[in-house]
Amino acid sequence: MDELWTREVAAAYDTPGVGMFADEVLEPTTERLAELAAGGRALEFAIGTGRVALPLAARGVPVSGIELSEPMVEQLRTKAGETGIPVVIGDMAGTRVDGEFALVYLVFNTISNLLTQEEQVACFRNAARHLSPGGAFVIELWVPELRRLPPGTPATVGIADPGYILLDTYDVLRQHVTSHHFHFTPGSTEAHLGRTPHRYIWPAELDLMAQLAGFTLESRHADWSGAEFTADSPSHISVYRLPAD
Ligand SMILES: C[S@@+](CC[C@H](N)C(=O)[O-])C[C@H]1O[C@@H](n2cnc3c(N)ncnc32)[C@H](O)[C@@H]1O
Repeated sequence: MDELWTREVAAAYDTPGVGMFADEVLEPTTERLAELAAGGRALEFAIGTGRVALPLAARGVPVSGIELSEPMVEQLRTKAGETGIPVVIGDMAGTRVDGEFALVYLVFNTISNLLTQEEQVACFRNAARHLSPGGAFVIELWVPELRRLPPGTPATVGIADPGYILLDTYDVLRQHVTSHHFHFTPGSTEAHLGRTPHRYIWPAELDLMAQLAGFTLESRHADWSGAEFTADSPSHISVYRLPAD
């Protein structure tokens, strides 16, 4: 997995003010996370370049991180030092950070980067290990799109813009989806292809993983502003909580 998050990918990751870095995305995200931290410390699993961690810290929440990719952390370090946002390089399924936290969060579908059910359950257990009694673990994750996959069809086209095509290929036995990102060079028929493998998780399976780690589901919404989660919601924000003692 770490070979995916290379120096080249890390250098191109940030899109200040646009897309996942837009204020409309980050304001509700960090507002909700700050509310859930409730004055305590927060730990981001797979902190990346600090897309969420930096604006959350700017709201006064002390944030630490775990991250597998050194190039991603190098990008974070161009924006905040080790004392501002301490980060441990390692796998979020097992790496331990010093101290206890009120909140652990794992956003932008990143639990699906763990490619086995065992690793995903281990990730929940690792979140529980870092939390104080009553602490919360927040996951942002898409809902698998298998309703778009008729029998006998191995792939779906997610986006078909002039400069970008997203093709998802499925292995339903292993519950894997590989996203193929074709970026076309303007004025050329050539494309750059990047591939990301994921293990998709149904909300019900996620809840069972949480239960195995001692959590209960406190809330599930369709977005960070608290929109209702329905059968047609493409993704969800799920808040899991440990017992208070
Ligand atoms: C889509 S980016 C998300 C980064 C950041 N959380 C954000 O919201 O912008 C996924 C990140 O997960 C990291 N990652 C993938 N697998 C990981 C693992 N097992 N442990 C820790 N980090 C991991 C990658 O290196 C990458 O930085």
